[in-house]
Amino acid sequence: MSLNNVQHLHQSFSEEEQKVQQLLSAMTLSEKIGQMSQFSGNEGFISPDLAEAVKAGKVGSVLNEVDVNVVNQLQHIAVNETRLGIPLLIGRDVIHGFKTIMPIPLGQAASWSKDLVKQGAKVAAIEAKTRGINWTFAPMIDISRDPRWGRIAESFGEDPFLSSVLGVAMVQGFQGNSLKDKGSIAACAKHFAGYGASESGRDYNTANIPENELRNVYLPPFKAVADAGVATFMASFSDLNGVPASGNEWLMKQVLRKEWQYQGFVVSDWDSIRQLSVHGFTQDDKQSAYEAVNAGIDMEMVSSTYQNHIEDLIADGKLIIAQINTMVANILTVKFKLGLFENPFTNQDDLPKVLNQQHLAIAKQSALQSCVLLKNSANTLPINLNKTNSIAVIGPLANDGYEQLGTWIFDGEGKDSKNCLDAIKDVVNGDAEIHFEQALSNTRSKDTQYFTNAVATAEKSDVAILFLGEESILSGEAHCRSNIDLPGCQEQLIEAIAKTNTPIILVVMAGRPLTLTNIIDKVDSVLYAWHPGTMGGPAIADLLFGKQSPSGKLPVTFPRNVGQIPMYYAHKHTGKPASQDMYVHMDDIPQRAPQTSLGMAATHLDTHFSPLFPFGFGLSYTHFKYQNLLLSTDKLKFNQPLKVTVEVLNTGDIDADEIVQLYLRDLVGSVTRPVKELKGFERVHIKAGETKTVTFTLDTKDLAFFDRNMRFNAEPGEFLLWIGGNCEAQLMASFSLEEEH
Ligand code: GLC
Repeated sequence: MSLNNVQHLHQSFSEEEQKVQQLLSAMTLSEKIGQMSQFSGNEGFISPDLAEAVKAGKVGSVLNEVDVNVVNQLQHIAVNETRLGIPLLIGRDVIHGFKTIMPIPLGQAASWSKDLVKQGAKVAAIEAKTRGINWTFAPMIDISRDPRWGRIAESFGEDPFLSSVLGVAMVQGFQGNSLKDKGSIAACAKHFAGYGASESGRDYNTANIPENELRNVYLPPFKAVADAGVATFMASFSDLNGVPASGNEWLMKQVLRKEWQYQGFVVSDWDSIRQLSVHGFTQDDKQSAYEAVNAGIDMEMVSSTYQNHIEDLIADGKLIIAQINTMVANILTVKFKLGLFENPFTNQDDLPKVLNQQHLAIAKQSALQSCVLLKNSANTLPINLNKTNSIAVIGPLANDGYEQLGTWIFDGEGKDSKNCLDAIKDVVNGDAEIHFEQALSNTRSKDTQYFTNAVATAEKSDVAILFLGEESILSGEAHCRSNIDLPGCQEQLIEAIAKTNTPIILVVMAGRPLTLTNIIDKVDSVLYAWHPGTMGGPAIADLLFGKQSPSGKLPVTFPRNVGQIPMYYAHKHTGKPASQDMYVHMDDIPQRAPQTSLGMAATHLDTHFSPLFPFGFGLSYTHFKYQNLLLSTDKLKFNQPLKVTVEVLNTGDIDADEIVQLYLRDLVGSVTRPVKELKGFERVHIKAGETKTVTFTLDTKDLAFFDRNMRFNAEPGEFLLWIGGNCEAQLMASFSLEEEH
């Protein structure tokens, strides 16, 4: 290579890349393998083994150490006591808050508010940074269409569009404008890919997803955050179509690197590289290390196949040093981008205090906007204190600051929560009697001995507010349920109280959609609060007493029973679609009915084919009317934007937010297309009696999909477009995309 080319090469390399290459050229193979290795911390001290490994340059990252002094000591060893002084990445699962806990991600998704998701992530990043954490393993953007799966709680739900928008918002919140900012940490898109399709909703189970479905449904949120600059990816545990993600070269090289030109680095999941042999994908750890390096998993989380076998694999000629150099460069680049070489140490005085009022205010706003009003018959809500003298507050989740935090809380503490009972007392402020009955020791209890007290208390009250649902341990990783009714004997408690004439308001805290069919007719109102986080109490109390109207919308379908799963709104039409006129319930089938009389459609005999509550659904204390849906054209050309406007009227007497949703249907495609797909949404605040005009602009790419040949294309033809307050919106228009000339 001529001098001129070298100079050109240097000029084309950024300063950062030159630093990386310079450092790389000085590193031994052992030190390179060290950067590719993540160790688990000792949680509050440094074991001699860990200290020795760091000193020997065998550690590139440590996870699960949150004592800032210990973290600073680890950085001191890495920077001042090793040959090259490469600082450490300090990782932690900061999934929905560090000390100030936001609603679980599924709850945040119900807010449909990218601003709040971004603010919540920023709060989490700042608070995590006070402990020296510079890398979080979030956002989790696995498309989740099976509420049996415990990790649906960590996701943004079933829809690729919503998950993409909110996933990008979370990355922006964590990473800020620059990773070097004091309050920024590196984010991690996980779990790449297809983890949400774990068969039967059992965690870690096989995921078989046809490539077309993978590309059109499961990959888009990952592509969106990759394009938004997420610093890292995490490989999934899953066996994806027979090739576990942590050894899946097609996914990690062909898709992530070649097609998406992704520049960050990929970390395995915990021990997921060693598990390649457990899958039966490899013979042993050495082959696992080979397959994972070959696939391009840059860093190994906790297991030690890289440390133990890469040197041999290179000596055997199975791997080449160039592969290792590329992987180490990916890791070093993130460390440079984080500014760790300039300053690897944490000074807590440089950052805001955790749990400060601003952070708590954001957590409350997030909880307020996450709650979904599913039922409100006879306008039982909001509670009118002028007409209420006695309130019964019943249930094990009414005053449990720990359980309201939800799953994936490593550092949040129940003592910092504001629980619902206390918050109700604050709002009522002596204007009515409040009688609390826990009734059950926990949500799984089958002990009905305190029901009598609960029923008596409800009997003498003007309204009964029940706080029921799932403890946080019943969702999250490895916590899947085959029956998603209210656990324990909570349904019986509802039935017992329903025998009184007292109106019942059910507040549900859960990490997933629950099947509420058995009790939905026994209560007057249902407010779904997910696990609402540190400020869940004040938020729910404000909603119950009408300080603000609920505005959340479901990010996931609520099935009538578990037998309907998988159930999601963006399903295919099929050749014999379910329809009301074709639906026959088994109880209505005449005795000895001949085979052909049963009606032939995609339905069950024992359950109506509709969900209990559809995607995008959520009530308000007011009502919204949609009218005057107008398109800029009904004959759209390729690359011509389509402008869509609609008027939304608040016909009630309460100011409130509405989440206006736009759905599309591509009637004919080279592969079958969903009956509806979310393509736009906007949260708007509309005063009582006022009208707002909402505008959306769709581009040709919004009509595109991966076709029969896996090409991302829009195809000419007819489209239907709906706008409304949920996926069953009726206000419709149509247009055609004309042939491209
Ligand atoms: C877990 C999870 C992953 C998490 C990692 C580190 O097993 O699958 O989401 O980030 O290990 O805790």
